[in-house]
Amino acid sequence: MNQDDIRDLAAKAIEAREYAYAPYSNFTVGAALLTADGTLITGSNVENAAYPAGLCAERTAVFYAVAHGHRGFRALAVSGGQKDCPPEDYCMPCGMCLQVLSEFCGEEFDIFIVKSETDFLHLKLKDLLPHAFTIIKEKNIL
Ligand code: THU
Repeated sequence: MNQDDIRDLAAKAIEAREYAYAPYSNFTVGAALLTADGTLITGSNVENAAYPAGLCAERTAVFYAVAHGHRGFRALAVSGGQKDCPPEDYCMPCGMCLQVLSEFCGEEFDIFIVKSETDFLHLKLKDLLPHAFTIIKEKNIL
Protein backbone atom coordinates (compact mmCIF):
# COMPACT_ATOMS: atom_id res chain seq x y z
CA MET A 1 0.00 0.00 0.00
CA ASN A 2 1.29 3.44 -0.83
CA GLN A 3 0.91 6.56 1.33
CA ASP A 4 -2.24 7.68 -0.52
CA ASP A 5 -3.92 4.30 0.00
CA ILE A 6 -3.10 4.43 3.71
CA ARG A 7 -4.43 7.97 3.98
CA ASP A 8 -7.69 6.93 2.28
CA LEU A 9 -8.10 3.97 4.61
CA ALA A 10 -7.36 6.15 7.65
CA ALA A 11 -9.90 8.76 6.47
CA LYS A 12 -12.58 6.07 6.12
CA ALA A 13 -11.94 4.78 9.65
CA ILE A 14 -12.19 8.31 11.03
CA GLU A 15 -15.42 8.90 9.06
CA ALA A 16 -16.92 5.62 10.29
CA ARG A 17 -16.74 6.87 13.89
CA GLU A 18 -19.63 9.16 13.02
CA TYR A 19 -21.93 6.16 12.61
CA ALA A 20 -21.01 4.56 15.93
CA TYR A 21 -23.86 3.95 18.36
CA ALA A 22 -22.18 4.36 21.72
CA PRO A 23 -24.59 5.97 24.22
CA TYR A 24 -23.22 3.92 27.14
CA SER A 25 -19.47 4.42 26.80
CA ASN A 26 -19.49 7.62 24.73
CA PHE A 27 -16.43 6.10 23.08
CA THR A 28 -16.82 5.93 19.30
CA VAL A 29 -14.74 3.65 17.11
CA GLY A 30 -14.51 3.42 13.34
CA ALA A 31 -12.87 0.69 11.29
CA ALA A 32 -12.07 0.50 7.58
CA LEU A 33 -11.25 -2.85 6.04
CA LEU A 34 -9.66 -3.23 2.61
CA THR A 35 -10.57 -6.52 0.94
CA ALA A 36 -8.43 -8.53 -1.46
CA ASP A 37 -10.45 -7.27 -4.44
CA GLY A 38 -10.07 -3.63 -3.38
CA THR A 39 -13.49 -3.16 -1.80
CA LEU A 40 -13.54 -0.85 1.20
CA ILE A 41 -15.87 -1.88 4.02
CA THR A 42 -16.39 0.17 7.14
CA GLY A 43 -17.72 -0.67 10.58
CA SER A 44 -18.56 1.19 13.77
CA ASN A 45 -19.10 0.06 17.34
CA VAL A 46 -22.75 -0.63 18.10
CA GLU A 47 -23.64 -0.81 21.79
CA ASN A 48 -26.70 -2.23 23.50
CA ALA A 49 -28.53 -1.74 26.80
CA ALA A 50 -27.53 -5.35 27.52
CA TYR A 51 -23.84 -4.45 27.39
CA PRO A 52 -22.30 -7.74 26.13
CA ALA A 53 -24.66 -7.69 23.14
CA GLY A 54 -22.76 -4.72 21.68
CA LEU A 55 -20.11 -5.18 19.02
CA CYS A 56 -16.76 -3.53 18.29
CA ALA A 57 -16.18 -1.58 15.08
CA GLU A 58 -13.58 -4.04 13.78
CA ARG A 59 -15.80 -7.10 14.10
CA THR A 60 -18.76 -5.20 12.64
CA ALA A 61 -16.62 -4.61 9.53
CA VAL A 62 -15.21 -8.14 9.32
CA PHE A 63 -18.56 -9.86 9.81
CA TYR A 64 -20.25 -7.59 7.29
CA ALA A 65 -17.49 -8.29 4.78
CA VAL A 66 -17.61 -12.07 5.24
CA ALA A 67 -21.39 -12.06 5.10
CA HIS A 68 -21.10 -10.31 1.74
CA GLY A 69 -18.73 -12.86 0.24
CA HIS A 70 -15.29 -11.48 1.13
CA ARG A 71 -12.72 -13.83 2.63
CA GLY A 72 -9.43 -12.16 1.74
CA PHE A 73 -8.28 -8.93 3.39
CA ARG A 74 -5.33 -6.61 2.85
CA ALA A 75 -5.46 -4.05 5.65
CA LEU A 76 -7.49 -2.57 8.48
CA ALA A 77 -7.52 0.95 9.88
CA VAL A 78 -9.02 1.70 13.31
CA SER A 79 -9.70 5.00 14.99
CA GLY A 80 -11.39 5.61 18.33
CA GLY A 81 -11.86 8.15 21.07
CA GLN A 82 -14.37 10.14 23.09
CA LYS A 83 -17.53 10.89 21.14
CA ASP A 84 -17.26 14.04 18.96
CA CYS A 85 -13.58 14.47 19.81
CA PRO A 86 -10.48 13.56 17.82
CA PRO A 87 -8.64 10.56 19.29
CA GLU A 88 -6.41 11.36 22.26
CA ASP A 89 -4.62 8.02 22.03
CA TYR A 90 -4.01 5.20 19.61
CA CYS A 91 -7.07 2.95 19.98
CA MET A 92 -5.73 -0.60 19.92
CA PRO A 93 -8.03 -3.39 18.71
CA CYS A 94 -9.29 -5.64 21.51
CA GLY A 95 -8.30 -9.30 21.82
CA MET A 96 -11.59 -10.63 20.49
CA CYS A 97 -11.32 -8.51 17.34
CA LEU A 98 -7.74 -9.68 16.80
CA GLN A 99 -8.84 -13.31 17.16
CA VAL A 100 -11.58 -12.76 14.58
CA LEU A 101 -9.08 -11.13 12.21
CA SER A 102 -6.73 -14.09 12.64
CA GLU A 103 -9.44 -16.37 11.24
CA PHE A 104 -9.19 -14.67 7.85
CA CYS A 105 -5.87 -12.81 7.83
CA GLY A 106 -2.26 -13.95 7.88
CA GLU A 107 0.37 -12.80 10.35
CA GLU A 108 1.64 -10.12 7.93
CA PHE A 109 -1.79 -8.47 7.72
CA ASP A 110 -1.42 -4.67 8.02
CA ILE A 111 -3.18 -2.82 10.82
CA PHE A 112 -3.14 0.97 11.04
CA ILE A 113 -4.07 2.56 14.37
CA VAL A 114 -5.18 6.01 13.41
CA LYS A 115 -5.18 9.28 15.32
CA SER A 116 -5.41 11.33 12.13
CA GLU A 117 -4.76 10.81 8.42
CA THR A 118 -1.11 11.62 9.04
CA ASP A 119 -0.63 10.29 12.58
CA PHE A 120 -0.95 6.53 12.81
CA LEU A 121 0.84 3.40 14.01
CA HIS A 122 1.53 0.69 11.45
CA LEU A 123 1.54 -2.79 12.96
CA LYS A 124 1.21 -6.35 11.71
CA LEU A 125 -1.38 -8.77 13.05
CA LYS A 126 1.49 -10.86 14.43
CA ASP A 127 2.66 -7.86 16.50
CA LEU A 128 -0.70 -7.57 18.22
CA LEU A 129 -1.65 -11.26 18.42
CA PRO A 130 1.47 -13.40 18.09
CA HIS A 131 -0.16 -16.65 19.22
CA ALA A 132 -3.73 -16.79 17.95
CA PHE A 133 -5.88 -19.76 18.80
CA THR A 134 -6.35 -22.02 15.81
CA ILE A 135 -7.61 -25.52 15.03
CA ILE A 136 -7.06 -25.57 11.26
CA LYS A 137 -3.29 -25.32 10.74
CA GLU A 138 -3.31 -24.75 6.97
CA LYS A 139 -5.79 -21.96 6.45
CA ASN A 140 -6.21 -20.73 2.89
CA ILE A 141 -5.79 -17.05 3.68
CA LEU A 142 -4.19 -14.15 1.85
N1 THU B 1 -14.48 -0.93 21.03
C1 THU B 1 -14.31 -1.15 19.68
O1 THU B 1 -15.18 -0.80 18.88
N2 THU B 1 -13.17 -1.74 19.27
C2 THU B 1 -12.19 -2.19 20.09
O2 THU B 1 -11.24 -2.82 19.62
C3 THU B 1 -12.27 -1.93 21.52
C4 THU B 1 -13.50 -1.28 22.02
C5 THU B 1 -15.71 -0.33 21.50
C6 THU B 1 -16.59 -1.24 22.30
C7 THU B 1 -17.42 -0.25 23.10
O3 THU B 1 -18.55 0.14 22.33
C8 THU B 1 -16.51 0.97 23.26
O4 THU B 1 -15.45 0.78 22.32
C9 THU B 1 -15.91 1.11 24.64
O5 THU B 1 -15.32 -0.05 25.06
